[in-house]
Formats: sequence, C-alpha cells, structure tokens
Amino acid sequence: MFSQPSWKFHLFFCTGNKCLGKGSEDLKLLAQNKLSQTTHAGDLLITKSGCLDLCDYGPIALLYPEGKWFSSMDEKSTSAMIDQILTGQDVLPRNIIYQIPGKDGLNKNGV
Ligand code: FES
Repeated sequence: MFSQPSWKFHLFFCTGNKCLGKGSEDLKLLAQNKLSQTTHAGDLLITKSGCLDLCDYGPIALLYPEGKWFSSMDEKSTSAMIDQILTGQDVLPRNIIYQIPGKDGLNKNGV
C-alpha cells in the first residue's frame, strides 16, 4: 500500500539535452549529495525533469510548492539553494526566471 511521502519540497533539475550539456545532471547529484549530509534528507525530493522549454537559460531548476523556476544554475547556486531551502531563506532571488502566479509564499520556516 502506498504510504504518504514526507517531502515538503520538490526540486527538479532539467536534464533535457541542452541543460544536460551544461552540467545539470552533476548539479542534481551535487544537490542530492549535499542534502544527504543533513538531517533533513526526507524533507526534500530532488529529481530530474525533461526539457522545460527555456533551453537558452539553462541549466534550469524548479522548486515546488513555491512554483519558482531558476535559470543559469551552477555549483555555487545549487549549493546555496539547498542551504536556503533548509533554512527558510528566499531562494536564489537573482536566478528566478519565472514564478507560477499565486505561488508567492516562501518557506519562511525552513524544513
Ligand atoms: S533542456 Fe532544459 S530547458 Fe530545455
């Protein structure tokens, strides 16, 4: 029987061809590795997605339920993103390329 997951957040890294060519798989692995070294590993699910149609701005990442899309991800921004999610800070405000309308709530309490 399916048991309800405990994740509070879902972070996607686009691994469509263009983002993949810019290192998105390594960024996903970096994020998963960093998360695994915390006590909050069960609070955040990190997976990959297919192409998100913003290829020129990649690597692209998405964070839900915040509904935020991030561009130009690199190792530094990925590492900062995990810290910010876990501590309830605004996540990479300079990297936000799109915000799902009506999803303006930030995780002010962290996980
Ligand atoms: S390959 Fe990532 S947005 Fe297209």
